[in-house]
This record gives sequence, structure tokens and C-alpha cells, in this order.
Amino acid sequence: MSMDTPEKKILKDTFGREVSYLRLSVTDRCNLRCKYCMPEKMKFVPREQVLTLEEIYILASVFVDLGVNSIRLTGGEPLIRKNILWLVKALSELNYLKELTLTTNGIKLPMLAGSLKTAGLSRINISLDSLRPQRFSEITRVGELEQVLKGIEAAIDAKFNKIRLNAVIQKGFNDDEVSDLVNFSIDKGLDIAFIEEMPLGDISSHQRNSTQITGFSLREQLSEKFNLQLSDHRTAGPSKYYSIANSETKVGFISPISDNFCGSCNRVRLTSEGRLLLCLGNENSIDLRAIIRQNFNNKSALKKAIREALTLKPERHYFDPNKTEIVRFMNMTGG
Ligand code: GTP
Ligand code: 5AD
Ligand code: SF4
Repeated sequence: MSMDTPEKKILKDTFGREVSYLRLSVTDRCNLRCKYCMPEKMKFVPREQVLTLEEIYILASVFVDLGVNSIRLTGGEPLIRKNILWLVKALSELNYLKELTLTTNGIKLPMLAGSLKTAGLSRINISLDSLRPQRFSEITRVGELEQVLKGIEAAIDAKFNKIRLNAVIQKGFNDDEVSDLVNFSIDKGLDIAFIEEMPLGDISSHQRNSTQITGFSLREQLSEKFNLQLSDHRTAGPSKYYSIANSETKVGFISPISDNFCGSCNRVRLTSEGRLLLCLGNENSIDLRAIIRQNFNNKSALKKAIREALTLKPERHYFDPNKTEIVRFMNMTGG
């Protein structure tokens, strides 16, 4: 990653928002089956439809040429993609990229954390919805808490610039754990973000309107135990952070349902099939795979298509927990 002051390139949408953040889903497959994310029997994209790592690299470099300065690798689970370290290393060497980050469920971190750091990954977010082994296995259907805890330790040992835990909180399921999760984060010197569940993909395990809980009520609950102060700390994404007295830990709230943040949206998403999605809560997209497979090196065609696609970026998402409008499951975009 170059530290030079680049000539500032800016990619803007029709509402004047600057798009500087690309979320790259490198696979829709996952080694877990979280209930809020996918159905038990998920159908994955056939392999030939998935972008190759070289195609992903070319597309990412075009976005950086256009003005993107932050890239996050997501999935499914990005760390089950074969040769992911090659991609991390190649992307981290792109000039003008300020940070390369990754969101993972942590299962494969014991094996990969050190190499990811060496390959140039800057920050890492690790999903952790519960500290209770049985509950963890229930929400992930097939996961074991112990494995993720080992993954978190491995990430700490690898000394990433910052590690944040992500917890999706569901009323009546894990809302009684927010204090424990904050205490765990303080103890380990990590940040944490509490996320409101979004109605993406038709899941059969629960009624989302009955488990919805606002970030605001979690913050009220936490304020009884912690002295939370609004912080000006920012990361590339939509989290609003609070600091805790006498601790380095920042507590974030990502509240897409109760506190819309679309006005400051700076991001677009590329699915593992090469669909460029202009918004998480909307199906508008263009097929970049078709363009790159027509001519691998035609960067100018890709640039033109991306610029035009930005006119499809809607002003905001409209999530209604009472109904699922988006047929796409979360593992298509990794959030
Ligand atoms: P930072 O770079 O650390 O700020 O990461 P991030 O919060 O952007 O990324 P992460 O993958 O950790 O995402 C955490 C949660 O935020 C996921 O549940 C995402 O679905 C959600 N999220 C991120 N961006 C958006 C967005 O544009 N719209 C909505 N509705 N949710 C988002
Ligand atoms: N609503 C909110 N967050 C979700 N995630 C997966 N599915 C959903 C959903 N329906 C979260 C994961 C992970 C992040 C990438 O997205 O827990 O932290
Ligand atoms: Fe896998 Fe993440 Fe979806 Fe869980 S939320 S099934 S870890 S992609």
C-alpha cells in the first residue's frame, strides 16, 4: 500500500456521495450456517460462475484506479477460498489503497492469521454472537465456540492494527450477553460492534420481527454498567462508536433498521459471481463478469461500466423486518 499522497481520484454517485469503499465477496460458501444468514440447506453458486482470483484482482485494481481507497474481503467465509493469501498479497501492493481489511467467522484464523498479517492485511473483523458454547453452536448450526476463541487469540498474536468483534443481537436469544461481550472485548483489548439483524433472504428458522432489537436499547442496557461516551472514532463502515472510560475498547452500533445511515454511504459490493451491487438493500446491479470474460484486459470498458452503474445506486435502503423483500441471502455479499 502506497503512503504517497496520491492525486485524488473521486468516484461519485448521483446523490453526490463519494464511493471509496469496495466490499469484495470472494466466495458465497461458508464453513458455518448461521441462522440469520442462510437456510440450513443452502444452494451455492456453481464454481465456473465464480470469479477467478485473477479476475477479482483486475476488477479491484480498476476500482482503485477510479478512487476506491479501502477494500474489505468478505464471503461467505473468505478464508475458505483457496489461495486467498495470494489475493491478499496482490491487493495489498496496489498503489493508492489505504487499507485492506477482512471480515471472517474466525474458524480458520489459527492457521492463517500470521500469514494474513505478513501478506499485508491491515484490520480484521471477527463475528462472535455468543460466548456460550451451546448457544454458539445453535446460532451457527455447525460451529464450535472453542475454534473461534482460538482464532481470536491467533489474530491478537498476529498483531493486526485493529481487531473488531461483530455481534448480531437478537431479542430473546443473545441480548442478555451484550455486557459479557463488552467485558470480553475489554479483557482482550478489542473493539466490538453490535449489529441489528437485516431481513435479507428468506430464512425459516425464526420470525425476524420477533427478534428485532434496536442498537439504542442495547446502548441503554450497557450504560447501566459502562460509562459510554460518544466517540469521533470512525472506520470505513457505518458503525457509530462509543468509548469506555479507562479502556481502549470502542463499542460500535450498526443500526440499519432503527438509525438509517444511507446518507453517508460510501460503499459498493462485488459478489463472488462478479455482480456489482450498488446497495445491500436493493437488487440493482450490473454484471462485471460478462465484461471481464469478454476481454480480460479491457480496463477502460470496465471503468465505463462502473461509472454508469453508479447511477443505479439508490438513495437509501428500506428494510422492513415484517417482510423479506430481498431474495439474496447475506452470504452472497458478506454483509
Ligand atoms: P469497518 O471497516 O470496520 O467499518 O467494517 P464494516 O462495518 O464496514 O464491515 P463488516 O463486514 O464488519 O460489517 C458489519 C455489519 O455491517 C454487517 O452486518 C454488514 O452487513 C453491515 N453493513 C456494512 N455496510 C453496510 C451497508 O452499507 N448497509 C447496511 N444496511 N449494512 C451494512
Ligand atoms: N443481518 C445482519 N447482519 C448479518 N450478518 C450476516 N447475516 C446478517 C443479517 N441478516 C453479519 C455477520 C457478520 C457480517 C459480515 O454480517 O454476522 O458479522
Ligand atoms: Fe457464514 Fe458469516 Fe453467514 Fe455465518 S454469517 S453462515 S459465518 S457467511
